[in-house]
Amino acid sequence: MAILPILHYPDPRLHKVAKPVQVVDDRIRQLVRDMAETMYDAPGVGLAATQVDVHERVVVIDVSEEGNQLLVLINPEITWKSEDCQVYEEGCLSVPGVYDKVERAARIHVRALNEQGEAFEFDADGLLAVCVQHELDHLLGKVFVEYLSPLKQNRIKTRIRKQERQAVKA
Ligand code: NI
Repeated sequence: MAILPILHYPDPRLHKVAKPVQVVDDRIRQLVRDMAETMYDAPGVGLAATQVDVHERVVVIDVSEEGNQLLVLINPEITWKSEDCQVYEEGCLSVPGVYDKVERAARIHVRALNEQGEAFEFDADGLLAVCVQHELDHLLGKVFVEYLSPLKQNRIKTRIRKQERQAVKA
């Protein structure tokens, strides 16, 4: 197990589009374990492989209070979205310290493979629906701040660059 370094916005590697996993093998299972450890350590409720500079369609999520319900999504697809929306204040491990409201579908249907390469499906609403949509955006190279106004995005970039300069000095 290993804690992987997380890319920070506006790193251009966050905008790469992930490829489907060809075979769910030990390499992928190791990636899943490392991503889960990285997410729990951060701590966060979701992590996409893109954020650890691996450009394959792998996501880990755990929205439970106790942090003991790991959801592994390999090659996930949202096959249905409700027309009604919900607004949540989102954050992201790749955009530390930034939280803002994003509107997304209130309910979704998801299809994916598990760590054994078996297909499964589920419906999601509430925080889980937000989290799945947020993480699947990462796999398409999209970070949640891109839903915000250009002015806000520029402010966030400036703030993060400043934070990182200070971190280097510290
Ligand atoms: Ni994120």
